[in-house]
Amino acid sequence: MKELKERILIDGEILGDDVLKVDRFLNHQIDPQLMQAIGNEFATRFKAEPITKIVTIESSGIAPAVFAGLKLNVPVVFARKHKSVTLGDNLYCASVYSFTKGVTNNIVVAKNFIEANDHILLIDDFLANGEAAMGLMEICYQAGASIAGIGIVIEKSFQPGREKIEKTGIQVESLARIKAFENGTVTFVNGEEK
Ligand code: G4P
Ligand code: NA
Ligand code: NA
Repeated sequence: MKELKERILIDGEILGDDVLKVDRFLNHQIDPQLMQAIGNEFATRFKAEPITKIVTIESSGIAPAVFAGLKLNVPVVFARKHKSVTLGDNLYCASVYSFTKGVTNNIVVAKNFIEANDHILLIDDFLANGEAAMGLMEICYQAGASIAGIGIVIEKSFQPGREKIEKTGIQVESLARIKAFENGTVTFVNGEEK
């Protein structure tokens, strides 16, 4: 997605060897116009699928997921990382290992928000090691739901997440695929100009 990649080149900051800071439009301050364009692009890429629901994970998956839900006219559910007092006990739960933090966290979704006849589009902001995406898939399968695909805003293609998901046979659509951080600049995977 040209508009997103241009924005990454303008506003993205590379931190250390493998982290892209995008706090100006996605992870802290949010650009609603760009998020809407992203949501529309996800809707286009998965238009062949009879999607009934979008599932994402708090917090940074929510903005792009809501705009995709608006375009597809389906509800959006976000997995929670922390138990809230209102959540109750009737939960689907998956553990997600964080490579950056070296800890395993549980993510949860209340059972009444995913049903066996749902056909779910998963959305997240980043695809790095794929742990969060695999956790979301696990929750969908616990519910007996089917998965239409996974929509990712920014994929770091030099990390193993995409390969991990592709092995499961699930379609992955990433709107910006980063090949590398070279000499302080972001380079994208070739043939992705759409
Ligand atoms: P991983 O092993 O699957 O990569 O997960 P990791 O624990 O490393 O990631 C921790 C958080 O950092 C996740 O967001 C993930 O989306 C995000 N992340 C991974 N790589 C990058 C990157 O290069 N840039 C940015 N900006 N984020 C990255 P989170 O903790 O769930 O935070 P949030 O969704 O509440 O913002
Ligand atoms: Na994040
Ligand atoms: Na995230």
